[in-house]
Amino acid sequence: MKEKILITSALLYSNGPLHFGHVAGAYLPADCYARFQRLKQNDVLFISGSDEYGIAITLSAEIEGRSPKEQVDHYHKMNQSLFDQLGITFDHYSRTTWEGHKKPVQEFFLELLENGYIEEKVTDQLYSDKEGRFLADRYVVGECPSCGYDPARGDECPKCGASYDAIQLKNPRSKVSGAELSRKPTKHWFLLLNLFKERLTHWLSQKEWKSNVVNFIKGYVENLHPRAITRDTSWGIPIPLPNTEGKVLYVWFDAPIGYISATMEWALKSNEPDKWKDYWLDPDVRLVNFIGKDNIPFHAAIFPAMIMGQNRPYKLVDDIPANEFYNLEGRKFSKSEGWFIHLEEFLQNYTADQIRFAIASNAPETTDSEFTWKDFQLRCNSELLGKYGNLVNRVMVFARKQCGANIPAFGTLGQIDKDFLEKIDELTGYIEESFSKYKLRQASRLIMELAAAGNVYFDAKRPWKEVKENPQAMQTTVRCCLECLKALAMISCPVIPEAAGKVWKMLGNTSDIEKQSWDDVLRTPLVEGGPLGEPEILFRRIEDSEIENELEKLRSLNN
Ligand code: MF3
Ligand code: ZN
Repeated sequence: MKEKILITSALLYSNGPLHFGHVAGAYLPADCYARFQRLKQNDVLFISGSDEYGIAITLSAEIEGRSPKEQVDHYHKMNQSLFDQLGITFDHYSRTTWEGHKKPVQEFFLELLENGYIEEKVTDQLYSDKEGRFLADRYVVGECPSCGYDPARGDECPKCGASYDAIQLKNPRSKVSGAELSRKPTKHWFLLLNLFKERLTHWLSQKEWKSNVVNFIKGYVENLHPRAITRDTSWGIPIPLPNTEGKVLYVWFDAPIGYISATMEWALKSNEPDKWKDYWLDPDVRLVNFIGKDNIPFHAAIFPAMIMGQNRPYKLVDDIPANEFYNLEGRKFSKSEGWFIHLEEFLQNYTADQIRFAIASNAPETTDSEFTWKDFQLRCNSELLGKYGNLVNRVMVFARKQCGANIPAFGTLGQIDKDFLEKIDELTGYIEESFSKYKLRQASRLIMELAAAGNVYFDAKRPWKEVKENPQAMQTTVRCCLECLKALAMISCPVIPEAAGKVWKMLGNTSDIEKQSWDDVLRTPLVEGGPLGEPEILFRRIEDSEIENELEKLRSLNN
């Protein structure tokens, strides 16, 4: 039966360029999953977009000398293009500043308020006399209330990891001007998360999510308290109440609703304005949120609570395959410290398949992991080129030369041939299971295991000898190898779509592999006598000198 699957990737702040950390955490795993489920012929809708409100945006805009609007326009465009070049197949990439986002956000707010889950309260906040404005979150620096580190950020300490409210910092100062801040009362709205403790606990108890998610969220739900959902700034969704000028809904209130509004925008653009309801209001849909681990509370508790507290039967998330962090050569990616890889440049020198495979093979699924240039080189040279590319090339060149460029008959199968064909079936079965359980590392390893099995078989059969001794047997060998290539193309398609598409064409197909059915392709043997396409080199070797250059570049950027 066809399944309806709504896949989301965390909305990306449009305050900087996309980097591998984001890609590994929330985008590549989601894309591989979406591609796999499409091949399985399920009804997939894959949604994401730019997260464009909040302090992360205004602060970075001030630092880079742009207006918030210029800032989000700049990075929205840049990131959308990077996603494109990486082959991330969103059905829609939206942005929270599109006008249709406002309505559902304000509706959530008003219904939660009406239902008694939002409360208004006057509290002290930090005020800058010099700048004439309230400052919160990352606009504030000061001494960490937990460990005393200074300068700690207004929302979280980079030294001890404590998270707190900016008002708790000792000796608070403006991040922008350095000016001292004083306390001043101001009115805000709070989401009464504590009222959802029972419902959330019960709902969560039925979930069989990844242990990192479950462990984290259990503790979190134990300690729910009211959370401010508004800020004193003008860059955001206005509070739909009178006399609230200068205050807006805080980014974490509006951002997750962005998944819904993005789907609404997708429906509008597809000329079926009500079609978003087929995904958000149908209980049979499976909703999967791909995120990095820092986003767990918002997806596993806060947004579900917001949905529980409003009036519409929106889908609650069914699975949250959250990933750990992905670092760069032993350190966090950091644009300000120069510890990052310029993606635009990277994609001029290497292919999307190469980086997709390198990240997938080493995805931060259960522990933090990292990109290193050496590992990248090794994955590209000894796996993609040495195993996958090598098998495709030697089989294709040999078949074209010895079989008149046509797919030969099976002939009589010996034990070794039968074992090989069985092995192909067995491995493709494991790979299917890996993809359906979001296990990209395992899927990537198994893809290479299949390629390696093909190489072992080819070497063992020695078709270059069979040609002379027993041409019939040679044809059997080639045929079994071609069946292996067909399977390899299909099962690698979610991770390295470009190479997979080329192998598919080499096997004489004119159709698009991405439009095929996983099951049909794997179950149906190739057509005997069918023409074989031109062999094509799939991957280039990456030289030591290139890697040394890249490492040098990184060191020189680092400050
Ligand atoms: N922009 C946020 C971040 O990068 C994630 C937003 S996810 C959503 O941390 F749920 F709010 F959309
Ligand atoms: Zn600290």
